[in-house]
Amino acid sequence: MTLSAPFSIVSLGEMDSDRVIKTGSIALDRYLREQASQDMRRRIAYCFLALTNDKQIAGYYTLSAGSALLNDLQQNIIKKLPRYPSVPIVRMGRLAVDKSFQGHGLGGALLADALERAAKSEIAAYAMVVDAKDETAVVFYQHHGFISFPSSHKTLFLPFSTIFPKSSLE
Ligand SMILES: CC(C)(COP(=O)(O)OP(=O)(O)OC[C@H]1O[C@@H](n2cnc3c(N)ncnc32)[C@H](O)[C@@H]1OP(=O)(O)O)[C@@H](O)C(=O)NCCC(=O)NCCS
Repeated sequence: MTLSAPFSIVSLGEMDSDRVIKTGSIALDRYLREQASQDMRRRIAYCFLALTNDKQIAGYYTLSAGSALLNDLQQNIIKKLPRYPSVPIVRMGRLAVDKSFQGHGLGGALLADALERAAKSEIAAYAMVVDAKDETAVVFYQHHGFISFPSSHKTLFLPFSTIFPKSSLE
């Protein structure tokens, strides 16, 4: 799925006006306003924004490199992976849509954009991992095919191979 008009997705670095969003979560609003630029500069997390035609921020997500312990995955998945202690992953640390745009497909479109961006990278990663902030977010991610880690219900993953069977480098 790609994001259709009237939204465009840009890196936070390309946006120089106020980083204002009202998602219903104080922590997610504050992160964009106060922390995201610093995380970008320090290469801790890259932040991508959905902008309306008039440059209003309608949503955002962040991506970082990470790893998951092999033994934290389900047995049927472990069997198909090499016996390294951990597997490389991409972590979507935050995903948020402004309240006035929620329920119209933007969250799903941002998720699809993040998956495609990560899968297109020339750095290998087995899966995307997300941290759901509450049970509603867990259900949202499950709706999109994510599976909870056996030991941590609110941390979910989606192997890239399930949506992109072949990598662009194969
Ligand atoms: C969760 C959030 C990102 C979803 O974004 P959204 O734009 O409202 O969701 P969408 O309209 O794109 O929904 C996409 C799909 O997910 C489904 N969906 C959305 N919220 C859902 C929920 N809580 N439970 C189950 N399914 C849900 C929709 O039915 C839709 O399904 P479809 O594509 O088959 O029609 C948004 O509501 C939000 O920012 N919430 C506050 C912050 C938050 O909870 N972030 C989650 C990450 S921690």
